[in-house]
Amino acid sequence: MGLCIMIINTEKFRDEIKQRKEYVERCLLEFLPPADSYPALIHEAMHYAVFNGGKRLRPIMVFEGAVLGGADKEEVITAACALELIHTYSLVHDDLPAMDNDEMRRGKPTCHIVYGEANAILTGDALLTAAFYLLAENLKAPKVKAENLVRAIRVVAAAAGSQGMIGGQVLDLQSEGLALDFSTLRKLHSLKTGQLFRAALTTGAILSGMKDSGIAALDKYAASFGLAFQITDDILDVAGNQDLIGKPIGSDAKNHKSTYVSLLGMEKSYRLARVAVESCQEALGYFGPEADFLRQLALHTLNRKN
Ligand code: IPE
Ligand code: IPE
Ligand code: MG
Ligand code: MG
Ligand code: MG
Repeated sequence: MGLCIMIINTEKFRDEIKQRKEYVERCLLEFLPPADSYPALIHEAMHYAVFNGGKRLRPIMVFEGAVLGGADKEEVITAACALELIHTYSLVHDDLPAMDNDEMRRGKPTCHIVYGEANAILTGDALLTAAFYLLAENLKAPKVKAENLVRAIRVVAAAAGSQGMIGGQVLDLQSEGLALDFSTLRKLHSLKTGQLFRAALTTGAILSGMKDSGIAALDKYAASFGLAFQITDDILDVAGNQDLIGKPIGSDAKNHKSTYVSLLGMEKSYRLARVAVESCQEALGYFGPEADFLRQLALHTLNRKN
């Protein structure tokens, strides 16, 4: 039922996403060290990796979690930037020759192509470190409680680390050349992609002081969203338009990755993405119409072109 209403509002939703994305870009520009600050090379490379082409979904989720918890989005700006910096660092490293060895990202040559491998590694390191600096900076927000900020930092660190995204990336690399069983593939997706979405949405909610039951509902939503998002990423790697997605098609096949598509085929992969989007909608049963943006975002992800 809800899905029909969302299809009717697609145009409006795209506009909403665009506005939110532009807001994120302004925040990032304000809080990243200037591109010409000393030493200029690393700051220029950080700007190169961060700007142009990113969808900014993780910071958008931080803001949304906060607003659903009754906070102003201004209260979580630096935390929202932090999540985008962690994500961007993960992409810079993911593209390195030792990992996926990709030469295009967000419509431009990858960071290591432009700045060399060593500088790309350092750019990733600097983005990750800057992220935790900015998270701590969120203490300056007048209404954010220190105990909630510490809780959020803990959540983000766990999600980014060896039992979260990095764990997923390790499983991803180990899977090259193997046909993983379905439950391992699901675990891999939930770690490499789901964890950061969960941390993003719940960070906003935690900083807003939302009740644990609400945070748990958002966590469930984000876990399913991450799964749907990575399945569609796998689908786009086969059937996407390179100009729209801004990264090479066929990277997974080139690296003999285990993906939903390689394991289950297109049709079944799409069906499972749809099931994951339905789980997103169920998780939001806790909320009323105030969560419609998240409902639409999940649906939009199912048919995304980038
Ligand atoms: C790409 O993420 C990596 C995955 C987790 C699939 P996005 O598709 O969100 O990348 P950007 O930020 O929009 O470039
Ligand atoms: C990477 O997954 C997820 C990360 C944690 C960076 P992919 O390797 O499929 O991401 P893309 O397709 O290069 O964006
Ligand atoms: Mg990868
Ligand atoms: Mg990759
Ligand atoms: Mg991919």
